[in-house]
Amino acid sequence: MTAKPVAPSPLPIDLKQERLPKHVAVIMDGNGRWAKQRGRPRIMGHRRGVDTLKKLLRCCSDWGISALTAYAFSTENWGRPLEEVGFLMTLFERVLRQELAEMMAEQVRIQFVGDLAALPESLQDEIDRAVATTQHNQGILFTVATNYGGRQEIIQACQAIALQVQRGEIVPQDIDETLFARHLYTADTSDPDLLIRTSGEMRISNFLLWQLAYAEIYVTNTLWPDFDQAEFHQALCAYQQRDRRFGKVS
Ligand code: FPP
Repeated sequence: MTAKPVAPSPLPIDLKQERLPKHVAVIMDGNGRWAKQRGRPRIMGHRRGVDTLKKLLRCCSDWGISALTAYAFSTENWGRPLEEVGFLMTLFERVLRQELAEMMAEQVRIQFVGDLAALPESLQDEIDRAVATTQHNQGILFTVATNYGGRQEIIQACQAIALQVQRGEIVPQDIDETLFARHLYTADTSDPDLLIRTSGEMRISNFLLWQLAYAEIYVTNTLWPDFDQAEFHQALCAYQQRDRRFGKVS
């Protein structure tokens, strides 16, 4: 999202529209290392990371991918130095404020997943405003995982379901995958088809533990601030070569 209107970038000819993932999830790793390599403070990496995310969102939208989910802040990230956590909270708030008009222009619908009640109140206000303002947009669904933890999400779903059983609204036999998924933060969102993780780490770090059950995983050594359209193109090429069997025989 930039201030000036930019012509949509066409889908590269070696990608098949009908075989694109509908939903892409990203673990944006390597911001700190990117900054360190340049002798800059870690926060510079996060700042550049926002630009990368904006470009990826636009690219997904241009190429007809209907949902993008980004892991912005995990429940474990509170353990980072205070100044870095404070910087990230302020950055999220500022980005939301600055990009709202552009999201409207591009018909982006934004939603947040995670334990939002623990975030600074001013950030919660900005989140509420962005979600309410964009809720009827018809374009890409952009989900931001903030103070998100997959295990914590599953536990809160279990608690909510247990309460329903306790109240006699359902019996344990009613609990199936559909009912369980309805109690997750992502209740109204399809599961990601493709998970991209940058900076070479081979783990999912408590991200969308339930929802990633059948996602294809693509890991690149590129650090997040350097993850550009060419890299995304490569990830999609790799995805289109995968044989998704969902446990069956092809
Ligand atoms: C991981 O890199 C990155 C983060 C914890 C923050 C990512 C957040 C953004 C890019 C901002 C997104 C903004 C909005 C509004 C959605 P790292 O710091 O762990 O890198 P390292 O592994 O090299 O230290």
